[in-house]
Formats: sequence, structure tokens, C-alpha cells
Amino acid sequence: MRWTMVALLGSALVARSALAEPEMTFTVEATKKGVPIPQSEIKIVPSAFGRSRKGHGPPPPQPGHGAHRKTRRANPTANSANWCGSVNTTPSNDQITVIHGSFTHPGCTKRTGQSYPQAAASWVGIDGDSWTSALLQAGTVCIVRLIYAHSSPWWQWVPSGAYTISSMPVAVDDWFEITINTTSTTAATVCVTNLSQATSYTISITNGATLARVNADWVIERPYYGASLAGFPTFTDVWFYEAWTTRTGGTGLGILGAKQYQIPSLCASEEWDDEHQVSWSL
Ligand SMILES: *[C@@H]1O[C@H](CO)[C@@H](O)[C@H](O)[C@H]1NC(C)=O
Ligand SMILES: *[C@@H]1O[C@H](CO)[C@@H](O)[C@H](O)[C@H]1NC(C)=O
Repeated sequence: MRWTMVALLGSALVARSALAEPEMTFTVEATKKGVPIPQSEIKIVPSAFGRSRKGHGPPPPQPGHGAHRKTRRANPTANSANWCGSVNTTPSNDQITVIHGSFTHPGCTKRTGQSYPQAAASWVGIDGDSWTSALLQAGTVCIVRLIYAHSSPWWQWVPSGAYTISSMPVAVDDWFEITINTTSTTAATVCVTNLSQATSYTISITNGATLARVNADWVIERPYYGASLAGFPTFTDVWFYEAWTTRTGGTGLGILGAKQYQIPSLCASEEWDDEHQVSWSL
């Protein structure tokens, strides 16, 4: 299957796009327990939610809980309006080629005082922090509405819109593994795997906005819904494991020493044991 932004947004944009950058396009292949899922059963749809580059937030975070693991690292911290998690940055002459991370999809519940819909997105991605003009990311999102809640996997190459992988169900505590493999600064494969069920979707994308491949991100995000931030639900702790990257210089970059973004009064994040990250609801 092949999608283009032009096809999704309608013919009004065709004339303009002829003058602009090449359109982002992608193809999808999926397997379940190693058996290909027919293209007719693969459903990828534009999402109403949009992730974005990190924003700033003023007040300090509240004290954390934690003690799930042995050693909490004293990483640098910073506040954000929408990112809660780790960002490690590499020099521009040693770019990230592959980023990886595994996490369990959290259980989400209504947070009093927040507008609807409420949403929390767990993702792994490249750029969007010091490099603000592009961000490639994939993960899961839980969405809490007034009368029901649902979850789905998704991916996005910002500034293009987000896509929901609606044919791939998500349950609380499912283990997800994300691998993003960039073949250039504008092309990549995004692999989203449900480890428990061995269900895997591989999205091959070309003509994405140019990445610098300098920020490695493992993040819980309060996404946008339209022009403003969605409400942010409470959620069970999200642990990221196997947070690693490969780089053009040959060495990896993990979560060790990564900057820990906090969303004041909503979410806190810490690194533990040199290799894990936990983000939790305040
Ligand atoms: C992923 O695995 C979980 C079990 O952990 C299962 O409940 C869920 O349906 C699986 N999702 C897919 C898409 O296979
Ligand atoms: C990334 O893709 C390249 C080919 O483009 C492949 O050789 C390599 O094994 C992939 N890495 C991972 C971790 O999937």
C-alpha cells in the first residue's frame, strides 16, 4: 500500500505541492508470528492528535517517587510543557542512525481538572529537541474521552501529520518494541512490534523533513489535539528498557546521562541503573 499526503489532504494541495518539497510517502508491511498480514487488513489512518517538538514549561517539578531500581542517576533536568522523558544529544559529526526502545503500554485514567480528550503518548524518536524542524517518532497513545478510552500505535514524521496504526490493537501492559532505522536524513523504516504477540508493522518512509539525527528521545508526551495541547490523563508508570542507538561513528548512545524532561505538576522522569527510564504521573 502506498499513501501520499496529497491523496489524504485532497486535490487543493496538489498545485501548491508541485512547487514545494517532495511529498512524504510511505509503504507498510506487517506480520503476525512471522506470517504476513494481508495488505487489505492493514489500516493506517491520519490521527487527530499531533506530537510535536518539545515545548517549555515554567514551574519546577514536584518531588518524585521511584525506588523501583537500584541506582537513580543525577541527570540534568529541564521543564517542558509537553515532554516527559529522556533526551540524549550527539554531536552533528556523529549522527544517530538507529534508535531502539521497549516499553509497556500504560493504563490511563481521567485526570480531574483536565479537558477532554486526554492523551498520553509513549514514544521513541529522533530529533525535535535541539533540532526543531523535524522529528521522527513512533509509539503508542492512550486517549481518555468523557465516556470511553482507547489506545493505538502511531507514528509521525513532523512536520507531517501523525498516523494511527488502527489495525494493530493495544492493551494495557502490552510490551512494545520500537526500532527506527534511518537510511538517510530524509528516509527511514519504522518498526513497531508487539512483543507479546509477535505482531510487527514496518513502515518505510521517504521524503521526510530533513533530520539532523542529533537527539535521541525516549518520551511520554502530552500531544496536541488540533491547535492546543490535549488534556493529560494519569497513567501507570512507564519503564523504557533497551534504550540504545547506533551512530555513524560506530559507537552507541544510550540513556546514560540523558537530560530528563519534566512536565511540571503532571509528569516526572528519571534514569535508573544507567539504562532504564521511568516516567510517572504526578
Ligand atoms: C499484543 O500482546 C498482548 C498481550 O500482551 C495482546 O493482548 C494484544 O492483543 C497484542 N496486540 C496485537 C496487535 O497482537
Ligand atoms: C538498518 O538498516 C540497514 C540497511 O539499511 C541494515 O543493514 C541494518 O541491520 C538495520 N539495523 C537495524 C538495527 O535494524
